[in-house]
Amino acid sequence: MAVRARYKLEIRRMRPDDLDEVMVIEKGAFRHPWSTELFRRELEHDWSTILVSVEPLAPLAMPGKTATELVLGFIIFWLVHDEVHILNVAVAPEARRRGIARALMVEAEKRAHASNAALMTLEVRRSNQGALDLYREFDYRAVGVRPNYYVDEGEDAIVMVKELKK
Ligand SMILES: CC(C)(COP(=O)(O)OP(=O)(O)OC[C@H]1O[C@@H](n2cnc3c(N)ncnc32)[C@H](O)[C@@H]1OP(=O)(O)O)[C@@H](O)C(=O)NCCC(=O)NCCS
Repeated sequence: MAVRARYKLEIRRMRPDDLDEVMVIEKGAFRHPWSTELFRRELEHDWSTILVSVEPLAPLAMPGKTATELVLGFIIFWLVHDEVHILNVAVAPEARRRGIARALMVEAEKRAHASNAALMTLEVRRSNQGALDLYREFDYRAVGVRPNYYVDEGEDAIVMVKELKK
């Protein structure tokens, strides 16, 4: 049987070979997931960053298996001028409520500071209480509503912002 040792989680930039694992998380997290092609394009944009939270694994004692990490969550953000816009945060269902999204938010904000960004922004579904609680914990303020933003369900988006202190 393969033996897995559990170590600390790490956060690093997503690589093209993470795509399959990221897509599993994306599909498990959203009713209307982004396509593989969209993720592939994000990886190529200079203004876009995708960070993944990975759990290092002991090498699997199985021939042909080379995976040494398990991707448990990701965050996507754009840096445009002095503004960081968070487009997507998701964590594998079995890894939720372990602080992974919180760690990804902390790292995104650290990188925003390092890039001299002044503002963080995001949109969230009105009904997404878990995400709203997460963002409020980081002192995001709701500044407006985009009615009917998620057209498939006709759901409103809450627009949230956070000013970064210099
Ligand atoms: C929202 C999501 C990213 C949170 O990921 P997570 O790793 O479970 O979050 P964390 O463990 O870091 O939670 C941090 C805090 O956020 C809040 N929170 C997170 N999920 C919550 C939930 N389901 N209900 C209520 N509060 C929640 C809590 O305050 C939590 O702190 P606590 O666990 O100490 O109470 C995850 O549930 C997910 O992938 N959901 C589907 C995709 C999605 O909705 N993404 C956000 C919109 S883009």
